[in-house]
Amino acid sequence: MKLAVVEGDGIGKEVIPAAVEILDAFEMDIEKVPVELGYGKWERTGSAITDEDIETLKECDCVLFGAVTTPPDPNYKSVLLTIRKELDMYANIRPIRPLPSVKGIHERNDFNFIIVRENTEGLYSGIEEIGDEVSTTKRVITRKGAKRIADYACKLANNRMKKLTIVHKSNVMKSDKLFLDVCRETATDTGIVHRDELVDSFAYNLITSPWNYDVIVTTNLFGDILSDMSGALVGGLGLLPSANIGDKYAFFEPVHGSAPDIAGQNKANPLATILSLKMLLEWHGDIAEAAILEEAIDSALNMGICTPDLGGKYTTSEVGNIIAKYIRTR
Ligand code: NAI
Ligand code: MG
Repeated sequence: MKLAVVEGDGIGKEVIPAAVEILDAFEMDIEKVPVELGYGKWERTGSAITDEDIETLKECDCVLFGAVTTPPDPNYKSVLLTIRKELDMYANIRPIRPLPSVKGIHERNDFNFIIVRENTEGLYSGIEEIGDEVSTTKRVITRKGAKRIADYACKLANNRMKKLTIVHKSNVMKSDKLFLDVCRETATDTGIVHRDELVDSFAYNLITSPWNYDVIVTTNLFGDILSDMSGALVGGLGLLPSANIGDKYAFFEPVHGSAPDIAGQNKANPLATILSLKMLLEWHGDIAEAAILEEAIDSALNMGICTPDLGGKYTTSEVGNIIAKYIRTR
């Protein structure tokens, strides 16, 4: 496997080395290709991502990505939006499930759901007109975009509990009617039990009764917000992995950002990135390695080996070292 490794900015430079140390512990046949992207590169060279960088990403089988900082500069084009569009990775998969010995906001831990977020259009279309008096962003829903994410979600639901929730706001935004209709048709055609909820009351229902959900399909911005919110259910943003999947490329990254408030202190939780690595191994068919990695993570957590966000006293690199050592000595 040829793997592009992007540290990015802020805590990306801490959590990616921890995950790479763990990957190296498996001694697999993997060629790692480091790629520099992000705000740091922009400051240094005037460009956060070049055409050449995109070509390099495309030449690899998949990407392991940390996080990048997006400054509030109107001339700065989001690196992630660029990559997701250029590599046409339309499905953003965000599994939310409790980990051992980590408490979220509920006593109950019998929930396990996946947010399937449309990743290329919606309110993140990038079509914007920015002015002093009026600024607009165009929300784009296409039948093709809705259909392929609906297909993905139904396929996933078919392998799980065959229960799909379509989350939208079509009562106010008519563009969502197309999204809703396409998702409903696809679920009906594939025999998936489905219902739909309006995003505002859904947010309340998800945070109060997460055990009622299995696969959730939604548009770009809603999926972004709902997944960060779900971090509260499992114990924090440092625990949420994700995969960006297209027909040709795959890209694995933690849900969180570059966390400038804690960057450079070696205290960021690397587990979101390490769990993203586990998704990468599963995607690549390395099922045994993924299972060992899960066992190693569970073992570390059960021994209280965790970073300060989970109440622990271990550093980012120590958590990485200990999990890597577990794998090497197993
Ligand atoms: P953030 O996710 O970076 O941080 C939010 C809060 O969660 C902060 O208090 C941070 O310390 C904490 N946090 C995040 N990850 C953590 C971890 N692994 N361990 C412990 N604590 C953690 O979101 P924020 O602050 O809104 O954005 C910061 C920068 O990151 C911005 O420039 C934003 O554009 C960028 N960003 C990048 C993303 C990406 O590259 N995928 C995604 C989200 C934001
Ligand atoms: Mg986000």
